[in-house]
Parts: sequence; C-alpha cells; structure tokens
Amino acid sequence: MTGTDPAQQAGERDVRRAAELLRAGELVGMPTETVYGLAADALNVDAVGKIFSAKGRPSDHPLIVHLPDAAHLVRWARAIPKEAIALANAFWPGPLTLILEREEGVPDAVTGGQDTVGLRVPDHPVALALLRAFDSGIAAPSANRFGRISPTTAAHVREELGDKVALVLDGGPCQVGIESTILDLSRGMPVILRPGAISADDIARVIGRRPAVRTSHAEEGAAAAESDEPRVSGSLAAHYAPRTPLRLIPAARLVEEAATLAGEGSRVAVLARTCADPKDARLTWRNAPADPAGFAHELYANLRDLDACGADFIVVEAQPETPDWQAISDRLGRAAVGSGDGEAELDEHDET
Ligand code: TXA
Ligand code: MG
Repeated sequence: MTGTDPAQQAGERDVRRAAELLRAGELVGMPTETVYGLAADALNVDAVGKIFSAKGRPSDHPLIVHLPDAAHLVRWARAIPKEAIALANAFWPGPLTLILEREEGVPDAVTGGQDTVGLRVPDHPVALALLRAFDSGIAAPSANRFGRISPTTAAHVREELGDKVALVLDGGPCQVGIESTILDLSRGMPVILRPGAISADDIARVIGRRPAVRTSHAEEGAAAAESDEPRVSGSLAAHYAPRTPLRLIPAARLVEEAATLAGEGSRVAVLARTCADPKDARLTWRNAPADPAGFAHELYANLRDLDACGADFIVVEAQPETPDWQAISDRLGRAAVGSGDGEAELDEHDET
C-alpha cells in the first residue's frame, strides 16, 4: 500500500550501524518478509527485557529467534529432528518458524522459561544482511504494541514504537504481510500453532505427514491463554486488533449491513474483496485484492488506515472457508474479538 522511496531503504551503512546498536544492547526495527520485527540481541537478557517493556508484552511470552541461516540451528536447538532439517531446507529463508527443544544457554528471557525455542530465517535482504553482520541470533517479535496490529512498513514501526527504538531499518512494505507459520516440532506430533503463508499442505509435502492445526477460535485462544500450554501470544483472543470495532460479514449481506449501520448514524468503513462499491457517500469503501496472497500483503496496512479514518465500525467482507484463506481468517477472527474496547462485538444477526 504505502509506497517507499528506494532512496529511503536501508543500505549497507545503516545495516552496519544496526548491528553495532544490537551489540550495544539497543533495540532496532527490522524488516522481514512477513511483518516488521522489534529486534534485540537474543543472548543479551537486558536487551531482550527492553523488547517486553517497549511492547508492553507480558514477560512470559516467548520470542522468535531469527538466524542468518540453517547452519546456526545447532547453537540454539538440540535433538533437531530430521523433519526440522527437511523443512529448513525447503522453506528457509522464509515465513516458517520451527519450535524445537532449546540448547543450553538460550536465555529464559527469550523462551518465556519454556524448554523450547522458536527459530526462523527470514526471507528479506535487509534482515539477512543484518543477521550476517550480527552473526548471531536476533530475538524479534512483531514491532507493535502488545495486542495491536502488526506493522508492515517502517512508518508503522515509527508511529507505534518510534520513541523506543534506536533505529528503524526501512526495507519497504513487507511482501507476505502476515506473521510466519509456527510449527511445533518439539512434541513428536507436528502441530501448527499459528497458520501463515506456509500451509499444512506445504509442510505435509515435505515431511510426508500432515501437521495437526491447533484450532484458532477466539474462545479456544482465550482458554489456551488460561491453561499451562506454551504461551503463544498470537493465540490470545484479543490480538491483531484495531481500536475500531470490527465485524466480519458475508459478501451476500455486506452492502446491506453497512448501509443499515450507516442509517443508524454510525460512520462505517468497509474492507471489501469481491463486493462492488455501491458508491454510498456514507461509507468509506476500500477494495482489497481478491486472492489470499494479495489480500494478506495489504491486510494490516488496510486495517491501520481504516482504523484511523474515524469510523465507528470497520466491516470486513468474510473470507471463504478454504485452506488458502485460513491464516487470514485466523487474523481477522481475532481482530474482530479484540477490536474496540477489547470486548467481543456480537453481530445481532449471529445466533451464538
Ligand atoms: O513473522 C513472524 O513470525 C514475525 C517476524 C518479525 O519474524 N514475528 C512474530 O513474532 O510474529 P511475535 O512475537 O509477534 O509472535 C511470535 C509467536 C508468539 O505468539 C510466541 O508466543 C510464539 O511465537 N512463540 C515463540 N517461541 C515459542 C515457543 N518456544 N513455544 C511456543 N510458541 C512460541
Ligand atoms: Mg506479534
């Protein structure tokens, strides 16, 4: 969405400076192909602590460690299963995070005290240049405040956390646009903890068995948050959320419901995919790409823009219930629950 002047994109000198800042225990905004990360030296407990205070994130939520390449795996994980090697070879650099048993020396601050660690090699030239210059693991959650929309441009990071980071490396708009697939390989049975651009089918093609997908309904997310399960903040109900209440409405009812809300005096922003703009002056209408990759690429920038346009409601055209839309439905489902003041906004037409 937001175009970036190539002249503003990070060059070698910025990358060297960012690596120095990381070594000095500072935080840096780092582009990846998924979303921007809030980066710190994963072995520096004080620096990692700064991530949690900057985000306002509970300190027992584990962070993903980003590596320059798969050869670094052995420093961070032990008992690396063959499936992990096969998946790393197939998808790294790329939007897949592997949860593995952690090696000694991986700080509790990074793993949330768990005996596992999340690892990935991001597919972005600036991130890879930084990782190579730094030559060690970089802990980086998405560079948003806890529970809010992940940033997909350098400007988003500056808006949200500009006062907390020493430097934001500009890598342009993130190509994928939603967070990596998280696959837990630490318990024998492979389980997808967070769906992303790499699907269960993609994984099955490589390892010859289908991972289970931890279901992502908001109530189950809330229940998981209460339980002793590994804490995946992406599984909390109120996540990825705009401040404006968000409703998901099937295409067949989209225009009618938006008009009804507007008729009741609400200002309504619409994110459509297949529905045509009815040119109703009361609606702020935005069309998103109709294919999942294009839709994901623009999703968070669209939500940010619509959140900022002063509407009382954001109405989003619901997605097909097919596997290629699963990661997007997951994010939008949580956005609906977590939006507004954090309470679920129940559509009066919903039976539940
Ligand atoms: O695409 C991404 O994964 C982005 C970019 C910056 O790499 N990062 C990201 O980080 O989304 P974050 O912290 O916002 O989400 C990572 C998720 C969290 O929900 C965390 O709980 C989970 O990964 N996670 C990390 N380590 C884990 C572990 N050992 N076991 C279970 N979940 C883990
Ligand atoms: Mg996040």
